Amino acid sequence: MASFAIMGFGTVGSGVAEVLRMNADPIAEKLGEPLSLKYILDVRDLSATPYADVAVKDFAVLENDPALDVVVESIGGAKVALEFTRRALMAGKHVVTSNKELVAAHGKELLAIAREKNVNYLFEASVGGGIPVLRPLFQCLAGNRIEEIVGILNGTTNYILTRMVKGGIPFDEALKEAQAKGYAEQNPAADVEGLDAGRKICILSDLAWGKEVLPEKITTQGISGLDLKDVAIASAAGYRVKLLGRALKLADGRQAAYVAPHLVPESCPVAGVDDVFNAIMIRGNAVGDVMFYGRGAGDLPTASAVMGDIIDALQHRSKRRDLGWSESAELAGLDELSMPWYLRGGSALTAIGCKVLSESDGAFLTGSMSAKEAKALAEKLGAAALLPVLQ
Ligand code: HSE
Repeated sequence: MASFAIMGFGTVGSGVAEVLRMNADPIAEKLGEPLSLKYILDVRDLSATPYADVAVKDFAVLENDPALDVVVESIGGAKVALEFTRRALMAGKHVVTSNKELVAAHGKELLAIAREKNVNYLFEASVGGGIPVLRPLFQCLAGNRIEEIVGILNGTTNYILTRMVKGGIPFDEALKEAQAKGYAEQNPAADVEGLDAGRKICILSDLAWGKEVLPEKITTQGISGLDLKDVAIASAAGYRVKLLGRALKLADGRQAAYVAPHLVPESCPVAGVDDVFNAIMIRGNAVGDVMFYGRGAGDLPTASAVMGDIIDALQHRSKRRDLGWSESAELAGLDELSMPWYLRGGSALTAIGCKVLSESDGAFLTGSMSAKEAKALAEKLGAAALLPVLQ
């Protein structure tokens, strides 16, 4: 009998318990032995729940149980979760998590501990919720030089944008709906201001190029400053506005990563990704473009990815999955990247040879230019909106 514990019984933790309840038989068949949920560690009183007999409040119970194989960390944040993850790995437990904040900020250190202790630290659920994307990136696409990653990485903001545009409801109401469905972070600013997507694009960069990219080093712009007028103009001109995380390997060997709302042409598959769905496009020099699509948040989709990692960890007990990243990547700033830009409220459209989207609003698309040049142009023309355009 293999056993695991859940630390933090919120949306994800309770989803993992539910997936085990739903799928105990196929999980046991894949493992060749039953999987038992031995402990749930949570500060709340679980005595009135069906999990009363496995509820504990002291982490040391997990740490000191030599028969406990895997610990799921679904506490969130990077304080208690960091301490318990370090201690669980040091105690020789495999650790599985959905905690992108922790992986993005401390993954390098935690993976080094896992290597030293010959255990697995797996985090498929930290990017794209239920979408298998990290394992394909470091395993199936290992034969490629990865050139670019771009994706809708936050379910909450994609849900909000979709409900505002297609449902015609105001921002606050759409956010409340996302919270009620269990998509949003405890602090919605992490979703709305793009921090969550930033953590995810950093984890994708870490795995794609093997060098650490810390979230505080990248430019992150969310949807709070987005004017629905620009969404409407873009829509009428055949573009959708999507919050994208993007990471690139430049010709000079440096990397770049950022998060910003983009205009996406309707012909791009990412443009049609709505509601809580995420989509991640990866370009490899052998495979070309591949896209991973599915539910990016929510209890059962995220728990599906966690359970996959639990099974993988147990199947790799003696020969651990060797993944990790090393020293800091050398980063180019967004100001150095060239792409077309959307501007609104500017003047002298014809003089600079731009594609006009709405003459009455003074909205247009520039040719390819750096963010620095685009900002200077926007300032010179007195533009009210400036957004990158995905090519
Ligand atoms: N708040 C996150 C999202 C949860 O909306 O995508 C999944 O990481």
